[in-house]
Amino acid sequence: MKRTLMSLAAASVMFAGHAAALKPGDAAAGKDKAQACMACHGPEVNNPTFPKIAGQHADYLYQALRAYKNGDRQNAVMSGQAAGLSQQDMADLATYFSTLDSGLESISRN
Ligand code: HEC
Repeated sequence: MKRTLMSLAAASVMFAGHAAALKPGDAAAGKDKAQACMACHGPEVNNPTFPKIAGQHADYLYQALRAYKNGDRQNAVMSGQAAGLSQQDMADLATYFSTLDSGLESISRN
């Protein structure tokens, strides 16, 4: 029992340490970093080849960027885009895009 409690305590310390390593996404920082993305993902771009990421959930976008970077998701364009991004860059970018209006027709608020 004592052993279990000690490993639980150790695990929670490790978890806390891990969580602290990544600061929450900063939309203002993300805006600066997003210059390179706007030609394809700007909210005004209506090209079905480029997914609309404006207004999408930050967690979803962060997850997608991480998958491109670690190779779980492969795409000639996006793998290259994500390669140079840090975890913080991805969090900032994801947060920034989530604050933008998608411009999509709403099916939930009409
Ligand atoms: C030259 C055009 C281009 C640029 C520049 C670009 N992207 Fe993309 N992006 C794409 C394409 C094409 C896809 C779809 C790839 C696929 O099918 O996996 C995509 C997919 C994504 C996705 C996944 C969307 C989803 O719904 O699954 C995210 C997130 C994303 N891009 C973020 C970014 C960010 C952040 C930047 C800037 C650092 C960026 N992209 C720059 C073309 C681009």
